[in-house]
Amino acid sequence: MGMEEKVNAIIEEIKAWKADTNEELEAYRLKFISRKSIIGELFASLKDVAPEDRRQVGQLLNTVKDTAQQHFQLLIQGLEQKRDNEGMQHLKDLTLPPVPGQNGSLHPLTLTVSRIIEIFERIGFDLSDGPEIEDDWHNFSALNFPENHPAREMQDTFFIEKDPDIALRTHTSSVQVRVMENRKPPIRTLSPGRVYRNEAISARAHCMFHQIEGLYIDENVSFADLKQTMLYFAQEFFGKKTKIRLRPSFFPFTEPSAELDIYWGLESESDYRITKGTGWLEIGGCGMVDPNVLSANNIDPERYTGFAFGVGVERIAMLKFQIRDIRYFTENDIRFLQQFKTVNF
Ligand code: PHE
Repeated sequence: MGMEEKVNAIIEEIKAWKADTNEELEAYRLKFISRKSIIGELFASLKDVAPEDRRQVGQLLNTVKDTAQQHFQLLIQGLEQKRDNEGMQHLKDLTLPPVPGQNGSLHPLTLTVSRIIEIFERIGFDLSDGPEIEDDWHNFSALNFPENHPAREMQDTFFIEKDPDIALRTHTSSVQVRVMENRKPPIRTLSPGRVYRNEAISARAHCMFHQIEGLYIDENVSFADLKQTMLYFAQEFFGKKTKIRLRPSFFPFTEPSAELDIYWGLESESDYRITKGTGWLEIGGCGMVDPNVLSANNIDPERYTGFAFGVGVERIAMLKFQIRDIRYFTENDIRFLQQFKTVNF
């Protein structure tokens, strides 16, 4: 093979060379660039070429050497480009819209509490707050629970200390005692909050749940005011056609006392199941504040009367959103929570 063909064959080989890795680049360098490369060897053999041909062969060798150098630069650039692209894969197309972020949503209990507050704020109720760890006075005694009376057992209390008793509050009525301590009538207040009872956890009951209690004390507050307020609330929350009924009941702090039921209807099989075939559902307790409670809190029972009510927030939320199991509220399962994104009362 003449020198010219040899050089052409090498140029072909150079142009076809690809380097996707550093190893392939290095193999190229060894083969075409280094001193011991085929091109280096050709230069070394130049001394054996007949003097009259040396000039022409030398030009040929310079051409192949330049080609090898140029292609080497191309391979280096190509590899650098590739490395950059890999590092900025996500920035490849800067005109693409961003990946949509996940918007959070309010917890169904937050939604329910806010809605209830909104309903009562419109008729002049303010908000009050108190501690979750309570003494015996605020949770029981000031609310007319007699010492050693079985009514204390009615609310399965988590005691933290005995004598004097310190416990997790079993109802937010304790907040109402704190309000009566600090304010004079007229009082119209709503106390939302977390409460605790030592109950076995099931689909319907939890040892930790939420209540909203309301207290209204003024001159001439009557049972008719209580009933009208409960009807207003039920219709605002569950719909204008909602009917209520008050069933006689007992609480130490109210007299008379009643359970508040709403008419749920008996249209479907599930209506039969959740209302136990009656069509009615209990949503809370209420009554006229017992005069003993007013006296215990230095409010003159001869001059003032009042009503109080309490509803379970989980219970109301479960009815409103048709939630089957109270445990969902505290499990933080995103599949559950996501469903409340679009709720708008
Ligand atoms: N505190 C009562 C409970 O937890 C509910 C209630 C409040 C009843 C106010 C009557 C009046 O069961």
